[in-house]
Amino acid sequence: MNNAHSAPLEPIEHFISDIASRVADELTVIVPASWDVPAKLREAMAYSLLAGGKRLRPALAIAAAEAVGGSTEPAFPAACAVELIHTYSLIHDDLPAMDDDDFRRGRPTNHKVFGEAMAILAGDALLTHAFHVLAAIPEKHPSVPAAAALRVVKELAAYAGAPGMVGGQAADMLGEQGATTLNELEYIHLHKTSDLIVASLRSGAIVSGATEAQLDALAVFGRSVGLAFQIQDDILDVVGDPAKLGKSTNSDAAQQKVTYPYLIGLDESRRKVAELTAEAKAAVMNGELPAPGRLLQLADYLLSREY
Ligand code: IPE
Ligand code: IPE
Ligand code: MG
Ligand code: MG
Ligand code: MG
Repeated sequence: MNNAHSAPLEPIEHFISDIASRVADELTVIVPASWDVPAKLREAMAYSLLAGGKRLRPALAIAAAEAVGGSTEPAFPAACAVELIHTYSLIHDDLPAMDDDDFRRGRPTNHKVFGEAMAILAGDALLTHAFHVLAAIPEKHPSVPAAAALRVVKELAAYAGAPGMVGGQAADMLGEQGATTLNELEYIHLHKTSDLIVASLRSGAIVSGATEAQLDALAVFGRSVGLAFQIQDDILDVVGDPAKLGKSTNSDAAQQKVTYPYLIGLDESRRKVAELTAEAKAAVMNGELPAPGRLLQLADYLLSREY
């Protein structure tokens, strides 16, 4: 995987499934066996973490490490940390107080199986553990300077926290059909979804030795790909197949959410996804990245996804 600039790229589906299986292996043992953890909590954490999921954020983190011409090995713990945070966000997003959903990753939602208290706590534990994993990177990969790991901690805390994903989720909960403007919806989507995608790309790249110019290009790419990703998620909530998605459709309408299809219609939403994907690709093609091929493949893959 380190010679991506010279070797021809395999189909992106293979890359994603290779990353998914490596990340699943690492996530299986990510909470140290020596930790004394209530069995129910450990079970609730593993239930959502190991239920599958596309593992797109890990794939983006590794693809970004490749794109900057660095080693991908130290990017794996960063990829796992991002997936821990993403999984926590899904458990909390599905709670009755939020989107009140019953299915996720092809299974009943965490709170349906373990109860609300354990679901909230499993989410808390996954979030906290992400920062433990990041802080341990220099021990595990001595080539990574402690300052790089510290930078990832600082960036991820902001992208996942109040100025980032949590802020976006708060705005999503406060948004009202009929009252929320397109600008306000863009704020919601950029923060609830793009921010963690930007953080995934930058985290993988930072531990692999990226330059500031490369990180800037990855942020522009992530902003557009993330917005396209959430608009596609909104589209699939209307027209997708629940069996393929592993979650129920029509959740947004049931919760009176403001979405792109609600505000601008399905056709215009699809056009926007294509336009944002083209913008994202332009950002990495013009961005001083020695090996952007995988990121370009991922952007195209996401454009036409059905789940
Ligand atoms: C779902 O993310 C939440 C959104 C930000 C739209 P994914 O569609 O990546 O969910 P998984 O990880 O594959 O389950
Ligand atoms: C969720 O957006 C974004 C998160 C930060 C979890 P949605 O609420 O649309 O995600 P789904 O459709 O439930 O996966
Ligand atoms: Mg939601
Ligand atoms: Mg939801
Ligand atoms: Mg959705």
